[in-house]
Amino acid sequence: MTSSASITVDRAAVVAPVHRRLFGAFVEHGGRGVHTGLYEPGHPTATEDGFRGDVLELVRELGVTTVRYPGGNFVSGYRWEDGIGPRERRPRRRELAWHATETNEIGIDEFARWARLAGSEIMLAVNLGTRDILEALDLLEYVNGAPGTTLADRRAANGSPDPYGIRTWCLGNELDGQWQLGYMTADDYGKLAARTAQAMNAAEPGLELIACGSSWTGMATFGEWERVVLEHAYDHVSHISCHAYYFEQDGDLGSFLASSLDMEHFIRTTAATADHVKAKLRKTKTIGISFDEWNVWYQGRPPTESEAPDAARIKAGEWPVAPRQLEDVYSVADAVVVGSLLITLLRNADRVEFANLAQLVNVIAPIMTEPGGPAWRQTTFFPFSLTARLATGVVLAPRIRTGEYDSARGAAPLVDAAVTFDEAAGSAAIFLVNRGMTGSQTVTIDVTSLGLTAVAQALTLHDDDMYAKNTLADQTRVGLTKNDSAAFTDGVVTVELPPVSWTALTLT
Ligand code: AHR
Repeated sequence: MTSSASITVDRAAVVAPVHRRLFGAFVEHGGRGVHTGLYEPGHPTATEDGFRGDVLELVRELGVTTVRYPGGNFVSGYRWEDGIGPRERRPRRRELAWHATETNEIGIDEFARWARLAGSEIMLAVNLGTRDILEALDLLEYVNGAPGTTLADRRAANGSPDPYGIRTWCLGNELDGQWQLGYMTADDYGKLAARTAQAMNAAEPGLELIACGSSWTGMATFGEWERVVLEHAYDHVSHISCHAYYFEQDGDLGSFLASSLDMEHFIRTTAATADHVKAKLRKTKTIGISFDEWNVWYQGRPPTESEAPDAARIKAGEWPVAPRQLEDVYSVADAVVVGSLLITLLRNADRVEFANLAQLVNVIAPIMTEPGGPAWRQTTFFPFSLTARLATGVVLAPRIRTGEYDSARGAAPLVDAAVTFDEAAGSAAIFLVNRGMTGSQTVTIDVTSLGLTAVAQALTLHDDDMYAKNTLADQTRVGLTKNDSAAFTDGVVTVELPPVSWTALTLT
């Protein structure tokens, strides 16, 4: 069954510029994110630093602009000094967040070299769970200090005379959550974040400092946490974070496909709370949002066949190095959700300035690797890479008329869309999702106001088997296909969207 939707695009309805840093990702020391992910000396494609060349190529193709590092839960137990200097002297430690042995072979200097090769900027997180202001200041001096102080000179002696110039910093990670080492109350965290940010600003004005917001909208403290933290830290920070992971629960595909309704609610509620504090404190500055972790993640699922041996070792009390953990294998439906979350992030670009797909390689990631073997694209790779490449210029707010269906997240529009317009390049991109589980949607898009005349490219992610996946055995089972239905007549684009699909159109 086919039904229809219509969209009107108005070039004057500008939301915000497309922030390049909406296309960030996240690398955490955990599972095989780093070891045999980014880093595998001896791999046939390894660089002289031991980074996997095949992964670097895929990261560049993915179009990742920013990479958050080194955690995540990991950062709350991390001593950054462990990861610098001669490798043979670096400590091996028990890593409590993921129950593994951290070898510290990779630290900030190696990661900065990797990020340069990947063409990505670093968003660095400091440990405010089990450490304090001074360690954050030391790390800041080590990475950004001009030669002439002990810590900056140590960086130079470790091979990097030029400061890294890292501008964007996370003040801890998920400190509202009881799973976090050193978790605390909003009052305690707000004071610590304020004092840490004040000190970091004194060392280096102009940093972008992100306070921890809520770990997800289901936290009992959601809303109140943001208010209390910002009442303490408003003057000292520039952004507050949101984190969210979604998965299909109990076979309720409709509610899963509507995940972006929760993301939208998260963003608008966080923005409203920040604005409440702004009014209350009589401030003029507006706090931005860093959606610094988001993805599909099947939390709590039993270990897969390849994860099982490591899970058993951890259960037996061992501390393996780089165990297989969180190696979710994504389906077409998962990728459609990722595409629709990107649509929501773009449409909220008036407030969301950073966003990081969590994570990057092997651990709930768009890129998978096999030790000594290949690297391949998961289904979720495709909507991310295409959005990162095509979304340029400004974000426009489209007017969408579509049917709805009931979901556990409320009434879910069948069709959702985001539009970007690049006047200088004479092009626009339209990203569309069809959440309908059985029927196609014929969508007409009135783009008269853009003054464009042709559909240059139309690509769709869809499969008759919406649970199809790319795996080691079949690495290219799922990909993008040309959507031949796309047509342009008299300022109106028409396109057919198959059920459970994501589509990107380029207009010129
Ligand atoms: O990305 C996996 C984990 O999810 C991160 O370590 C943590 O911040 C979040 O709970």
